[in-house]
Amino acid sequence: MVKICCIGAGYVGGPTMAMIAFKCPDIQVVVVDISAPRINAWNSDRLPIFEPGLDDVVRSCRNNNLFFSTDVESHVADADIIFVSVNTPTKTRGLGAGKAADLTYWESAARMIAEVAKSDKIVVEKSTVPVKTAEAIEKILTHNSRGINFQILSNPEFLAEGTAIDDLANPDRVLIGGRETPEGQKAVAALKDVYAHWVPEDRIITMNLWSAELSKLAANAILAQRISSINAMSALCEATGADVSEVAYAVGKDSRIGHKFLNASVGFGGSCFQKDILNLVYICECNGLIEVANYWKQVVQINDYQKARFVNRVVSSMFNTVSGKKIAILGFAFKKDTGDTRETPAIDVCQGLLGDKAQLCIYDPQVTEEQIRRDLVTSKFDWDHPQHLVVPPGSPTSNKNDTVRVTGDAYEAAKGAHGICIMTEWEEFKLLDYERIYQGMEKPAFVFDGRNVVKPEELRKIGFIVYSVGKPLDPWMKDLPAAPST
Ligand code: UDX
Ligand code: UDX
Ligand code: ADP
Repeated sequence: MVKICCIGAGYVGGPTMAMIAFKCPDIQVVVVDISAPRINAWNSDRLPIFEPGLDDVVRSCRNNNLFFSTDVESHVADADIIFVSVNTPTKTRGLGAGKAADLTYWESAARMIAEVAKSDKIVVEKSTVPVKTAEAIEKILTHNSRGINFQILSNPEFLAEGTAIDDLANPDRVLIGGRETPEGQKAVAALKDVYAHWVPEDRIITMNLWSAELSKLAANAILAQRISSINAMSALCEATGADVSEVAYAVGKDSRIGHKFLNASVGFGGSCFQKDILNLVYICECNGLIEVANYWKQVVQINDYQKARFVNRVVSSMFNTVSGKKIAILGFAFKKDTGDTRETPAIDVCQGLLGDKAQLCIYDPQVTEEQIRRDLVTSKFDWDHPQHLVVPPGSPTSNKNDTVRVTGDAYEAAKGAHGICIMTEWEEFKLLDYERIYQGMEKPAFVFDGRNVVKPEELRKIGFIVYSVGKPLDPWMKDLPAAPST
């Protein structure tokens, strides 16, 4: 029986390994993590991440051929194939701060593998890493190998949160990068055998290590670029009276462009896009490719501009001040069908509104109050390095009487509010009784839709003043300043 061990039981490692175990009953899969609460949650009825369909997959193979454990070293020692899926946040200190990937967790995992291995191992890079990380990892492994043979492969993960199970079950492609030596190719074949249990052969693409590593960064950069492109268009639509949905539809009909990933929004979030682009920028700069670096930087800058522009719309529409006004925030996750808040645009929007002394009441169907409070007070470094996070007693996370309230109900959030900001495209926000919401709000009542969830005309009929990203402006907003000054 082939034995697989995955280091890191996060958003990538957990679902990916569950799918491998589900599709490969002849393979034993153990997911290990240094975080005991995380492993306990994976072994419980309440998994640590919300992902549609994941519960069923986990339940059907847990304790048969899928195991979750904190006993990292013994399972690593025992495995034939080791996936490394630890966090690789952006460095916040020292050389490359703000751009380069922080490989601390990766390096310590590699050193641990070298230390405990007693037989040959295939080590698979699963978390997104800078190009040539494999080379660095290879050096750590071989310099500490004591005669053991390590083969390193790059097998980047393309699952998107919220659709992870479907993405894993029916991937567009699986990439496997390896060394072009006979041993390297043997390792590539071994990993290919795992995926061939359910992925058609023509979707399993093998290539060299560096191409596989760069393909992941390139795919995420180009996806994010599409969103920044349509978001840039959304600003122009608002200025001209065009409708961004109509423009996106027309553009997407060109088969060379395609219709996916052209939804204008308050900005992209998630753990990957910004981090991977900044990482790409850093690699370009290190290689003296300044023009290329500046090109990609612009994708992140437009994203920041889009979030700032949204806050500006809210404040300028509400008589240039939100001080002391209750504003309902509907949705906090970075997209629907996930409870993940990493890099969510809701954080920037909330912080922008709090900066203008707004009173926020936040509702998200999947994000806990504790998480929201932590996100709104945590510095970027602590947020990227949760292992370091110690929230001091009496900090705002535990203060219930501050300017942030979190509620379990959208109607409650909107009651008595001057405005509503829709930050996540949860289906339930389309189905709310806006008539009822309007009755309970201060007047004039505003809706600022950052996800184009509501139908502006219907809401205007009720009496709302409505802003929807990239849509023809409400007459109320026509002469107000549109963009934040830089
Ligand atoms: C373009 C648009 O495709 C067409 O829809 C519009 O109506 C007019 O402008 P055209 O300029 O005739 O058409 O040719 P196109 O095939 O788009 O190529 C434009 C340039 O891009 C060429 O120099 C081509 O060599 C280059 N190109 C195209 C690339 O360098 N790489 C590609 O992958 C595609
Ligand atoms: C992304 C990639 O899609 C995935 O392949 C990679 O492995 C990890 O990063 P993820 O971040 O989970 O996945 O979600 P994704 O669906 O890509 O959305 C990212 C952000 O872009 C979200 O905030 C989403 O709301 C936003 N988005 C997406 C838009 O604003 N408009 C769109 O058209 C699509
Ligand atoms: P991703 O979205 O890439 O899956 P996460 O932050 O969700 O990232 O998950 C990464 C996981 O890796 C965390 O649960 C963390 O505790 C774990 N981890 C980090 N370093 C190690 C290590 N050396 N050994 C085991 N687990 C680790």
